[in-house]
Amino acid sequence: MTNQQKPIKQYLMIPGPTPIPTRILAAMNHEMIGHRGPIFSKILGEVIEGLKWAYQTKNDVLVYPCSGTGAMEAAIVNTLSPGDKIVMINIGSFGERWTKIARAYGANVIDIKVERGKAADPRAVEEELAKHKDAKAVSMQQNETSTGVINDVEALAKVARKVLPDALILVDAVSGLLAKDLKTDAWDLDVVCSGSQKAFMVPPGVAAITMSPRAWKAYESSKMPKFYWDAKQQKKFADKGQVFTTPPESIIFGMHEAIKMIKEEGMENIFARHEKNKVIVRTGLKAIGCKLLADDACASPAVTAIFPPDGVDAEKVRSEIRSQFGVELAPGQSELKGKIFRIGHLGYVDQMELIATIAALELLFNRLGAKVEIGKGVKAALEKI
Ligand SMILES: Cc1ncc(COP(=O)(O)O)c(C=O)c1O
Repeated sequence: MTNQQKPIKQYLMIPGPTPIPTRILAAMNHEMIGHRGPIFSKILGEVIEGLKWAYQTKNDVLVYPCSGTGAMEAAIVNTLSPGDKIVMINIGSFGERWTKIARAYGANVIDIKVERGKAADPRAVEEELAKHKDAKAVSMQQNETSTGVINDVEALAKVARKVLPDALILVDAVSGLLAKDLKTDAWDLDVVCSGSQKAFMVPPGVAAITMSPRAWKAYESSKMPKFYWDAKQQKKFADKGQVFTTPPESIIFGMHEAIKMIKEEGMENIFARHEKNKVIVRTGLKAIGCKLLADDACASPAVTAIFPPDGVDAEKVRSEIRSQFGVELAPGQSELKGKIFRIGHLGYVDQMELIATIAALELLFNRLGAKVEIGKGVKAALEKI
């Protein structure tokens, strides 16, 4: 028995871009305005203030027209010089990407590669850092989207600060900011990256970094080449309520509305919503016998990585759930390609969409030959709502 009807509704269950609320879409549906004029300046100023709120920081926040990778590159080129040692905690393919960026600019990368599906252990990191007292920076993912693992940034930053008091702490919070608490100032984080297309519920196109006074000091001696990413250039324009280049205005209008929405909801409620999404997905999938890549202790509130039942191909799950039910799931990346699929549950994702996804997986697994009790995962997940 197969569903012959072409799905007309898309369930976008990937970890970014996330679905966009109508309020944000409506705010983006706006004519272009002068990006060097007062109306744009006011809007951008409010977006930056809102980002500071989300980052829990008084540090500068610089907005770049780019995706999250641009923010990662900006973090490196604005703080380091070729040959500088950076210890990079690498728990997945985005950690890997950051090592490639740093190497591309000539940094001396010490790659702490952690087994996929695990978070970095602060004690192991402390031991490793002690061997590299000359490191200028330490980097880490808050949320590793490729494995569905969340790092304990507070604990990792604490050991980094203890062992290397003057080193910069760089954090990729592209998929974690607002999904889980991240206190930029209280945890003494120097550069933190984010992107519009994740928990902000806005389309891709804007990314941001924070710059602490320590990061600005490093900027002054940093010799990596930079133009588009030059933080001082960006700050000069930000101080006038502008972006250095022509900004993606529609995305900025969307961010402006998103900031209003997330402030109305409140940070604690946003964290709780993501935590609940995690529990719903994990409970439902475990109930139907799926193995999850990450343990409960380090499971991400933003995305879950799942092994399909024995004998079922992960990529087939993705293509069939799309064609039969209109559900879009994310693939495995790097060494996990073809082995897992991922459900995104961050941003504008509703609990009932998660239930629908679990229901679709139950039906699909049976259709693909795995014996799964229909309704078992849905029931277990519903009991968590
Ligand atoms: C943790 C993390 N870092 C960095 C990125 C890169 O962002 P982008 O694809 O927007 O360049 C992503 C994208 O999914 C991510 O999840």
